[in-house]
Amino acid sequence: MPFLLNLSSHTFLAPMAGVTDKPFRQMVRHFGPHLIWTEMIAATSLFYHSQTTERMMDLSGELGPIAIQIVGNNPEHMAFAAHKAEENGAVLIDINMGCPVKKLISNISGAALMRDPYQAFQIVKAVKDAVDVPVTVKMRLGWDKDECNVVDFAQHMEEAGADALTIHARTKEQGYSGKADWSFISAVKSKVHIPIFANGDIVDEISAQKCLSITKADGVMIGRGALGKPWILSEIDGKSPCFGLKEIVLEHFERLLSYYGAKGLFIARKHLAWYATGHSFVAQFRRLVYAEKKKENVIALIKEFF
Ligand SMILES: Cc1cc2nc3c(=O)[nH]c(=O)nc-3n(C[C@H](O)[C@H](O)[C@H](O)COP(=O)(O)O)c2cc1C
Repeated sequence: MPFLLNLSSHTFLAPMAGVTDKPFRQMVRHFGPHLIWTEMIAATSLFYHSQTTERMMDLSGELGPIAIQIVGNNPEHMAFAAHKAEENGAVLIDINMGCPVKKLISNISGAALMRDPYQAFQIVKAVKDAVDVPVTVKMRLGWDKDECNVVDFAQHMEEAGADALTIHARTKEQGYSGKADWSFISAVKSKVHIPIFANGDIVDEISAQKCLSITKADGVMIGRGALGKPWILSEIDGKSPCFGLKEIVLEHFERLLSYYGAKGLFIARKHLAWYATGHSFVAQFRRLVYAEKKKENVIALIKEFF
């Protein structure tokens, strides 16, 4: 698989809506050449030229490699979105078949596609026909503990032409709670011939190595472990990145303000809270940051706290 051969690391940043936007991706890029996923991008909104959605897919000014994740149910819209993503510089197009959010499920997209293998097949085929870059699918174990169809579904996606698969080792019903069950990833790995990326509860070098040894996966994808830790991928790769936390937080804050304008101040709050996790007086810091409406005062709080 060409893109895998060219990657110097097989530790990836997971797609996270509301998190892996341009400012966060730029912070992660500071620390290494890892493959980074965008937030999920709604294909139908893009098809109807939503400017907000088009902006989410803009990779200008960023260093690759970046994968763009698209979500939707309509093969024509998904092919359109994939083509646009490739034009924008994505090195890989990923199809979301794992999101448990109600709005997507009711539209038979995200994790609901694992219950509609015919439509999932049509989507992968249409996207494959639309682009030259590799196409991957991100999925879960299945709907719930009684419907864990991930092995059959993965084989079906391979037949449809997917170049690699990411498996978040939880069911749709679990959402983000409960423990990820990596044994299903090994089961998939033994049945399909394309690369498999493991996802779920990988937060440091030890959990990454444990997961790789259990699953024999071809890569690991990190989600929540990267919140407030844009350096985590390089740490997982065994490197000890050297940086000043205060400078990182300030730079991220400035990037959020310049990208989102005044709204950036509100978007920054959750990131600041994540950066502060584990430090002393975190509750007090969070309270002050959430109450603050002036950029200069937030900067002063950051300088004082970190
Ligand atoms: C805030 C947040 C937003 C997410 N958004 C997406 C998304 O847009 N697309 C997707 O495929 N998964 C999304 N996920 C799921 C993650 O990519 C990942 O599969 C999940 O968090 C499990 O990995 P972890 O245990 O390393 O966090 C999201 C997760 C979180 C916490």
